[in-house]
Amino acid sequence: MTWKFYDITHKYHDILNPSNPEKLDRLISLLKLDADAKVLEIATGKGELITQIIERYGVSGVAVDLSPDHSRDARARFAERIPEANLTFLEMDGAEYQPEKPESFDLTLCLGASWIWNGHHGTLAALKAMTKPGGLIAVGEPFWMEDPDPEFLKRAGYEKETFATHYENVKMGEEFGLNLIYTIVSDHYDWDNYYSLWWYAGEEYIRQNPDDPDLLAFKAWLADAKEQYLRWERDSLGWAIYLFKK
Ligand SMILES: C[S@@+](CC[C@H](N)C(=O)[O-])C[C@H]1O[C@@H](n2cnc3c(N)ncnc32)[C@H](O)[C@@H]1O
Repeated sequence: MTWKFYDITHKYHDILNPSNPEKLDRLISLLKLDADAKVLEIATGKGELITQIIERYGVSGVAVDLSPDHSRDARARFAERIPEANLTFLEMDGAEYQPEKPESFDLTLCLGASWIWNGHHGTLAALKAMTKPGGLIAVGEPFWMEDPDPEFLKRAGYEKETFATHYENVKMGEEFGLNLIYTIVSDHYDWDNYYSLWWYAGEEYIRQNPDDPDLLAFKAWLADAKEQYLRWERDSLGWAIYLFKK
């Protein structure tokens, strides 16, 4: 059910996180990868980011995602945009992915899926172990901008400890010996674009699929997500992409 609702609400997203294309383009331009570099993206979503990285640098890589819907979209994107690329796509749980050799990727990424390794700390540990010394690690992670309202935590199923502050997210990387070399922080424009596209796609789906047996559940799920975002999340939760050098 959740995959289905997530698929419906992300119909108009290429990037499934609240970053915008200009900021991501800047990030990609700073990666400065050689053509023989190897890239790993866990939770690739629709595969747009790794596609842009391969289009720009001609690198090889591995992309992983668990959702059957996103895997379908990612495969279609790879076939259309980078058919000649040396890219392996795996539809599997990212937590179970093991590279052939440790410390073998020049760049590892995981944006917006740190639950795979129980949070930001575990994500940094997992990616660090798969990244070459001197390589790059890019993680996308929410952060608290203010103390979260207990009612929001309850409704969203979060603990305060689910996320840290922006500063703490950086410090966790530094404690692993990683050096933060670039960061992108999303603003209200980026967040509003990310979430309001859910509402836009959701409204369209409801109108076009009046006989869907899951419609009532979908409407309730979407209304709850909208309320949570407008009432709390917009002002209390930030989002950043952290680019660390190992
Ligand atoms: C918020 S989206 C981010 C997608 C992509 N990184 C992006 O920023 O466009 C989270 C992604 O994690 C994937 N995912 C969720 N659990 C996963 C798991 N255990 N292993 C691999 N992928 C997972 C979902 O299918 C979804 O594509």
